[in-house]
Amino acid sequence: MDTRTSSYFDSEAGPGNDDAFAQALQRCVERTRAVLPRTGLRNPRVGTANNSWEYCPHGFDWVMGFFSGQLWLSSQLSGDPVFSEAARARRGQFRAVLENRRWQDHDIGFLFSLHAVADWKMYANHDAREMALESARCLLSRFREEGAYIQAWLPHGPHDREQARFASGRMIVDTMQNLALLYWAHAETGRRDFLEVAELHAATTARHLVREDGTSFHTFSFDPATGEPLRGETHQGYAHDSCWSRGQSWLLHGFAQCYAATGNPLWLDTARKVADTTEKLMGTTDVPVWDYALPADGSHPVDSSAGAVTAAGLFLLASLTEGEEAERWDRFGRRCLHGLLRDCDLTTEPQAEGLLAHGAAFVNSGKSDSMLPYGDYYFMEALMRAQGHTAFFW
Ligand code: GLY
Repeated sequence: MDTRTSSYFDSEAGPGNDDAFAQALQRCVERTRAVLPRTGLRNPRVGTANNSWEYCPHGFDWVMGFFSGQLWLSSQLSGDPVFSEAARARRGQFRAVLENRRWQDHDIGFLFSLHAVADWKMYANHDAREMALESARCLLSRFREEGAYIQAWLPHGPHDREQARFASGRMIVDTMQNLALLYWAHAETGRRDFLEVAELHAATTARHLVREDGTSFHTFSFDPATGEPLRGETHQGYAHDSCWSRGQSWLLHGFAQCYAATGNPLWLDTARKVADTTEKLMGTTDVPVWDYALPADGSHPVDSSAGAVTAAGLFLLASLTEGEEAERWDRFGRRCLHGLLRDCDLTTEPQAEGLLAHGAAFVNSGKSDSMLPYGDYYFMEALMRAQGHTAFFW
């Protein structure tokens, strides 16, 4: 019998209880249960045209932890051991990532917060704690003192000069979600390095990736030798000076998380600024267009994953603020969730394997309009936050 941490299992729905969300959550858990025999030990990577899953290849993929996260949330909601067992059965795949330095990029936080920190926090699993601490040390080692940022990507292969030029000296907005692993490791061990690196990276992100008007660059490059700031650029967005909607959502959720972990008012102000601008950029739409520089008139793909991360971040921000401000973020989060339920919900489609349609993985590479495992994970997180759950793995 697992030891359960009560805060994960005793939380009741909060004052904002919404039947549509409660029913959607129940369908999410049932869909997760139904696909387990088909997925086996594989981790969903991207949806196909008929809404079945393609799976991560052997090795490392930045998305490989999201299905574990979905399993832990299902475990939390149902208490059914089938979910915790399925998550733990994947442990060897995560161990392999820690044993292969060439696979360890900045996304290690996504992987291990959702796979291992979760098992420690929910079930006091000691192996999971050790694994999560080891992954936090790997993330720490990616910090570049010159420039004060965590380098995002790997210069794959020693002879790939183009990739090395592209990757070195580059930070990206997505890393904000990975800082939670460092804050957790600091809280767990008291080791100051973890906190210092997370705070320095957050400060560099606020300075260089968040623009004055609250929009954002996807990436920022530094001279890798000196740390001299060079320029903001996009990789997955529409243009260097545009605002990629999933990037914007990583910032919103990420800075809210940093504030939750530290109480540093700078992170609250940055999360507010990003949320305020996101609200303006979304205008009258309820599901974000994949890049806010593009008209949201149906002529460009939407990104349901950006909508799910935005909603989860807004509920987190609402929980960290008070009065009219908290109501504003909560209302905006509910609007995003209702948009997802109206336009993207697959839990009422019996043939679909995932939860949300219309994710945009990488539009410039031809990857849009599909299910995405991170869309699914954050959809569940957002629905749970909307229902008053506060205990997560970040
Ligand atoms: N972290 C990669 C992405 O958001 O597509």
